[in-house]
Amino acid sequence: MTDVSKDKVQAYIDLFDGDVVKAVRALREAAYERPARRTQPVTPRRALSEQVIIRVENLKKTYKIGKQQVNALNGITLDVHKGEFLALTGASGSGKSTLLQLMGGLDRPTEGTVMIQDNKLASLSDKKLSEFRNRTIGFVFQFFYLQPFLRLRQNLEVAGIPAHTKRSQRRERVNQLAAVVGLGDRLEHYPKELSGGQMQRAAIARALLNNPEILLADEPTGNLDSENGKAIIDLFEKIRNEFGTTVVVVTHDDAIASRADREVKLKDGVLV
Ligand SMILES: Nc1ncnc2c1ncn2[C@@H]1O[C@H](COP(=O)(O)OP(=O)(O)OP(=O)(O)O)[C@@H](O)[C@H]1O
Ligand SMILES: [Mg+2]
Repeated sequence: MTDVSKDKVQAYIDLFDGDVVKAVRALREAAYERPARRTQPVTPRRALSEQVIIRVENLKKTYKIGKQQVNALNGITLDVHKGEFLALTGASGSGKSTLLQLMGGLDRPTEGTVMIQDNKLASLSDKKLSEFRNRTIGFVFQFFYLQPFLRLRQNLEVAGIPAHTKRSQRRERVNQLAAVVGLGDRLEHYPKELSGGQMQRAAIARALLNNPEILLADEPTGNLDSENGKAIIDLFEKIRNEFGTTVVVVTHDDAIASRADREVKLKDGVLV
């Protein structure tokens, strides 16, 4: 930092109610004339890995419906660290699902970039993006989307088809993951014979079938009671701890937000 007058330093300290650390950080950011990197809007509850796995840079998304435009994301910059359990929170309509979809390459931004490892998602063709998604990312949604006419085993096995794994490997992986999510004895059941919590755990097992580095979940407990919701949170933590998976969860559920390593809040398409 160069040439900062005493008055300016004092003004910054006053601005932050005497908090010198915050004042210096803000001054430094102003001096380098780059936007504040909102990598750690709140102090994480657990030391984060130095390694960044998802890098979101000035992300904007505008939806056009006829002549009307909705600015769902207005410039989001955020680093997700490898192996972290991150909660994305905010009021309805604040842009959480939009951000999650762009992070997972399910949709393309209007402006800005998403980098996962060394891949800039916007530079990938649709085909390459879909291959990359299958390999790297597992998705979990509020509604479980299990096929009602398939047994749990088949529901899980079909998820392994796009990755061209061998049938024997798929079977073994299905057995292993069903045990991880506590459904080892339910593989021959149909979805309607499972409880809501069990269906969501099955959907999580399905998302993990290709051993993704990243698990993205949109309101995974939105349809569950608090006890089943807690079992899902426990499971996310277990997956992160056992497999080192990076877990990003969009949620209205305070129980998840308070258990995550870090909570990032959105308001009107920006981080707050
Ligand atoms: N496909 C779409 N077409 C048009 N507008 C959309 C579309 N998806 C989202 N929006 C709008 O973008 C804004 C952000 O929506 P988003 O679904 O990301 O919010 P959210 O934070 O996930 O809300 P909720 O908590 O209700 O799920 C909202 O104003 C929404 O109406
Ligand atoms: Mg949403």
